[in-house]
Amino acid sequence: MEKKILDTGEGRIMAPDLKIEDRAMEMSLRPMSLDTYVGQTKVKENMRVYMEAAKQRGESLDHVLLYGPPGLGKTTLANIIANEMNTNIKITSGPAIERPGDMAAILNNLNEGDILFIDEIHRVNRLIEEVLYPAMEDYVLDIVIGKGADAKSIRIDLPRFTLVGATTRIGLLTAPLRDRFGVISRLELYTADELATIVKRSANVLNIEIDEKGAYELARRSRGTPRIANRLLKRVRDFAQVKYKGVITEDVAKESLDILEVDRNGLDITDKELLRCMIEKFDGGPVGLETLAVSIGEEAETIEDVYEPYLIQQGFIKRTPRGRVATMSAYNYFGLKLLGGESFD
Ligand SMILES: Nc1ncnc2c1ncn2[C@@H]1O[C@H](COP(=O)(O)OP(=O)(O)OP(=O)(O)O)[C@@H](O)[C@H]1O
Ligand SMILES: [Mg+2]
Repeated sequence: MEKKILDTGEGRIMAPDLKIEDRAMEMSLRPMSLDTYVGQTKVKENMRVYMEAAKQRGESLDHVLLYGPPGLGKTTLANIIANEMNTNIKITSGPAIERPGDMAAILNNLNEGDILFIDEIHRVNRLIEEVLYPAMEDYVLDIVIGKGADAKSIRIDLPRFTLVGATTRIGLLTAPLRDRFGVISRLELYTADELATIVKRSANVLNIEIDEKGAYELARRSRGTPRIANRLLKRVRDFAQVKYKGVITEDVAKESLDILEVDRNGLDITDKELLRCMIEKFDGGPVGLETLAVSIGEEAETIEDVYEPYLIQQGFIKRTPRGRVATMSAYNYFGLKLLGGESFD
């Protein structure tokens, strides 16, 4: 029965991936400088140093690979890098590049210092990847002209550009491609404090009144993800406007989010299915990632890269050498008791 409730609104509103309705909002809410980019302290500090060093030497920035779950700010950071380096950014994505010739044309059109942002870079196919290798390493294009015995290979020099790649699935990147990035940064899930800061900033931009506790309530339920926090803010604003006096307080946030069936712990439909499966089918584990994946019909990599990080951050799952284990908190979450979990029978 619970499943039926979950299948309606919540799965949608809590999905971390980008929806068409989010697009315009994301553009307006995107911070434009490192200083306004909240959280990700380590990544920010490192990027500052690399950018400063490149600028001092008058060189282009080393190639950067950003990875982490959807909606954490990879695209935003790529744009910020271009801003801070005072360069142009050209944006494309793995699935959009169909042939090696497309890749060559994109590279050939770059200017000195440009940022080339390739989103979903794990979806670039092998043949196209091979065009990238010499381009990333030596800033050249190797092009074969003609066929068979007459085929000739020519080299074209490219301007010194910076490739910024983004992926939610670093495990799917080939080693040769991964190795050609000088900087590899993992974006982490945000803390409630950081998300509250983001919510307040977004509210300010969108002219929404929200108080401290209201912002925290939204933050806590956003699955560690700024995209979800911004989406919830927009929905709750509607409730505040129509049903209350326009201000988002803790009570308003709580009531609206309950009506929207947004989980109090920020869990989404797949998180719950995963936990339930571990508890009901595997007695709480340990259970291997592959087995778990087959049981809930998800890919193992998706569980590992997208779902598990939040469940681990929240203390619902532990990783052990023998597999994943559901914690006491996971049992408590479903109102269950952990029976004989730690006994030695
Ligand atoms: N550090 C941050 N500070 C403030 N807002 C942020 C931050 N990171 C992300 N956001 C907000 O979250 C939205 C989503 O971020 P973004 O599109 O960069 O995520 P992404 O990692 O590229 O997602 P995907 O994997 O789906 O491409 C942005 O529009 C921005 O408003
Ligand atoms: Mg993105």
